[in-house]
Amino acid sequence: MIIAVDGPTASGKGTIARALAARFRLPHLDTGLLYRAVGRQVALNGGNPDDPADALAGCDFPDRLIEDPELRSEECGGLASRVSVHPEVRRALYELQRSFAMRAGGAVLDGRDIGTVIAPEAEVKLFVTASVAARAERRFREMQAQGRSVSLAAIAADLEARDRRDRTRTTAPLVPAADAVLLDTSDLGPAEAISAAIAIAERSIARF
Ligand code: DC
Repeated sequence: MIIAVDGPTASGKGTIARALAARFRLPHLDTGLLYRAVGRQVALNGGNPDDPADALAGCDFPDRLIEDPELRSEECGGLASRVSVHPEVRRALYELQRSFAMRAGGAVLDGRDIGTVIAPEAEVKLFVTASVAARAERRFREMQAQGRSVSLAAIAADLEARDRRDRTRTTAPLVPAADAVLLDTSDLGPAEAISAAIAIAERSIARF
């Protein structure tokens, strides 16, 4: 069984994907981390994330880079969004994601194009959304807890810029698959969002 969880930054899709993986005992791949690793490698190479050749060169990152805590930073999120625009980068990362999705026994993948491009045959497709205000607030609290000082307005502006880039790119833009179930987490806490996602997954599985 393949479970695809797509949605914008800070929508709660990562928390939901991890919970679904635990509930259905499936391996989980956070595909955003791959794009973040490419963005980080481009920066380490001194390259330009907007240049297709530099961005493609970043796809040759060493495996251990995936463990780098720096990948979780806002800066790496921005770099990831920029390198992810290039079709050559998306092609280079396709096989790894596709073979993870095709694992015997199934898998949970979260990202932007799992239900549309990587695993269009997924039995469960969730598109997780939340208002910009709710997502900015979450990110703000996370960053405060890490002792980082940033303004809520700056976070909201950054989220909106990233959303715009992810939604308007030509290759594999962030759009819900026609058969995805939408889950708006704006007014839900993590436990409520997880319960709602499990209920949606169980209904989709029963129907399949
Ligand atoms: O989910 P995230 O915030 O870690 O993703 C970072 C960026 O990577 C996101 O802004 C766009 C890109 N991305 C993508 O284009 N396709 C994916 N499947 C996952 C992430």
